[in-house]
Amino acid sequence: MDYRPTTGRQEESKMGSSDSEDCLQSWRIVEEGTKKCDEHGDYESQLMKHTHPRNPAWWTRCPQCNLVYEREMTELEARLLLDPGEAERLAIMRRDAAEIPKRYWAADVWQWEEVYPAMEVVARVVKDYCGSFELVLDKGQGLIFTGNPGTGKTHVACAIANHVMSKEGTALYSTASDFLIRVRNTYNNDASETERQVYEAFESPDLLIIDEIGRNQETEHSIATMFNMIDRRYRSLKPTILVTNLDKEQTVKLLGKALVSRFRDGGGKMLGFVWPDLRTNEKEIES
Ligand SMILES: Nc1ncnc2c1ncn2[C@@H]1O[C@H](COP(=O)(O)OP(=O)(O)OP(=O)(O)O)[C@@H](O)[C@H]1O
Ligand SMILES: [Mg+2]
Ligand SMILES: [Zn+2]
Repeated sequence: MDYRPTTGRQEESKMGSSDSEDCLQSWRIVEEGTKKCDEHGDYESQLMKHTHPRNPAWWTRCPQCNLVYEREMTELEARLLLDPGEAERLAIMRRDAAEIPKRYWAADVWQWEEVYPAMEVVARVVKDYCGSFELVLDKGQGLIFTGNPGTGKTHVACAIANHVMSKEGTALYSTASDFLIRVRNTYNNDASETERQVYEAFESPDLLIIDEIGRNQETEHSIATMFNMIDRRYRSLKPTILVTNLDKEQTVKLLGKALVSRFRDGGGKMLGFVWPDLRTNEKEIES
């Protein structure tokens, strides 16, 4: 397929448009003749010449070929930009890259049901966070979710990532232990990636979620490794969401004041998910 600039029709209409004198004067027909297209046979062609000698003269191409070319370009544009299939394919690629667990693929901030009254505050903060994500990106504003198992922390964190990706932003989800294992694996002789590459992979997404902090006994070294990565994101003003089963006090104790203050900086919030387990549907069991 020939993707040279289209000829004939558009150029003529451009010449015909009188909004600019330059434009009127630019291209002139200096000769006419019959040309032969291998596919479509004879056609009338014009030799176009520009008033400025820098532009080479050219014969207009077969009008039928031009139509085919235009149709193919339109189709290509549609495929790339407008076709929902293509948009969906890109969305799936973003989601795959983000490593969101399948359970939370459909998690939606705007559809999060406020089963208990206490959830209202979290819902409001999270919706604000998503609604003004450009500002969040500007300030590198992070969040810390604390609370008991089954209270929807991972769900909400992934819902935020889903929102960011729906706006064509990038996200990455990881558990703390997966991150630490990935770093540790780089110390092997046959490592497939370097430590630096791991840090870069965690530094580059618009939003990073580190889940299940404190689930395993965190060592001083593992906390230091996490601190390093989070601090890199902090310095490049990139928002991070930390999720933990610990309560607020334990969280500050585990992560250290230095890290928590990095989250507070720029308006980051620590949100307590303090309501019953959403996994066991207690209301149904009771009735
Ligand atoms: N508002 C809600 N209403 C009903 N179900 C919810 C709600 N929010 C989350 N869930 C569902 O409840 C379950 C528990 O949520 P989630 O996995 O996010 O909990 P968690 O706080 O991360 O728990 P853990 O600390 O054990 O990892 C999930 O299946 C999730 O999709
Ligand atoms: Mg969870
Ligand atoms: Zn042709």
